[in-house]
Amino acid sequence: MPAAKAALEQFFDFLRFGSVSTDPKYKEQVLECAAWVEKKLKAIGLEARQYETPGHPIVLARGPRKEGRPTVLIYGHYDVQPVDPVELWHRPPFNPCVENGLVTARGASDNKGQIFAHILGIEEALREKGDLPVNLIVLVEGEEEIGSPNLAPFLDSHREELACDVVVISDSGMVAPGWPTFTYGLRGIAAVEVTATGPDHDLHSGIFGGAVENPATVLARLIAGLHDKNLKVTLKGFYDGVRPLRGWERRAWKPLPLQDADLLRMTGAPALRGEKGFSSLERIWARPTAEVNGFGSGYQGEGTKTVLPSKALAKFTFRLVPDQDPKKILGIVKDYFRKNTPPSVKLDIVPGHCGGPYLVDPNAGFGVAAQKALGRLFPGKKPALIREGGSIPIVAQFKSILKVDTLLLGFCLPDCNAHSPNETFPVSHLDLGARLNRYLLEEIAAAS
Ligand code: BES
Ligand code: ZN
Repeated sequence: MPAAKAALEQFFDFLRFGSVSTDPKYKEQVLECAAWVEKKLKAIGLEARQYETPGHPIVLARGPRKEGRPTVLIYGHYDVQPVDPVELWHRPPFNPCVENGLVTARGASDNKGQIFAHILGIEEALREKGDLPVNLIVLVEGEEEIGSPNLAPFLDSHREELACDVVVISDSGMVAPGWPTFTYGLRGIAAVEVTATGPDHDLHSGIFGGAVENPATVLARLIAGLHDKNLKVTLKGFYDGVRPLRGWERRAWKPLPLQDADLLRMTGAPALRGEKGFSSLERIWARPTAEVNGFGSGYQGEGTKTVLPSKALAKFTFRLVPDQDPKKILGIVKDYFRKNTPPSVKLDIVPGHCGGPYLVDPNAGFGVAAQKALGRLFPGKKPALIREGGSIPIVAQFKSILKVDTLLLGFCLPDCNAHSPNETFPVSHLDLGARLNRYLLEEIAAAS
């Protein structure tokens, strides 16, 4: 079998595991997927092992070690998001196929394709040279999509083993196909779930409606109160510490190929709308938001049912930018809900995962080496310097615990449908990512 074909077959094997980290139903497949990653890393010549955690296992591998060269830690995740709504997939999510050069499967882009491409790059270098240009650590975890709750303690207790000069992550995007992209910032996140309970059981809305307040209405009012007419978040103190966008960023982002028309096409939304005074990219990459991720109450079946629901539930995440502190934001959010809830309902507020934002100077440290590697990958093109709106909570912890910066060099496409039905990854990006891996390790070695 030609090498490329074998690589694709293996990629398909990787994608066949339903490694959904959030749903206990998938526990077995998560474990099998971790074992597969460990086996693959061993097969290419790395020393690899798994570490148990209170949640899903961490897979850790090392390459040949030599004195005097830098240590690079490549991070990725083998867990994936749930597939719902599954009826909207054109193909079963864990039965990968290729069509028009795109692999469709849950996790194809986020993050199996990207970490697998790195593994292919390492495999190729070891096969050709029997060595790598740097001392290498590969860390692949199974809980990124649930906020990496067990990875920070692991970093803390394995500081010496994980000591490195820089972290490399490909779990973000390119601004357009063929467009080299270097990400120097990520948003942070704070999650919270709110349940409003009114009557202790569902009521007849004719017999009681008007006298007993409806918890769905109360929760809807609380949600609506999160934004003002300019779509700014109303919470007191929410914007404290938000770093203003710098002039060079605004200028650099204006000509990028990801403009409103592209966003409209990719999302299918009838129009774009967001915080007054900022462009769409600025809103996504450099401004904080309050989002409702889920909202439910009352009768959802066919026809009508005159019910006054007992409960209403909403799930929120707040995307954060430097220098907002997720813990402080959770406090502000709790205060808002408590202060604005009438005595007619009881409110339960359960905080979820938290992750700090991240921002570095793209031209400092190994940033220059990263841009050189991208330049070799796409000769004659200048890398786009961007931030991303998504979150990789562990990045801030690599900085605070291991004291190292992270190079974010993602190569999924903006319309890859990450977290949505019909997630895709271009077949050609396996090779692209493998070459990026090789150039990057070479440039990092050359810069040290
Ligand atoms: N790969 C994404 C993060 C991402 C997306 C970075 C787009 C840059 C651009 C990652 O797998 C992810 O989805 N993270 C979650 C984190 C959360 C569950 C704590 C996110 O951003 O929602
Ligand atoms: Zn994700």
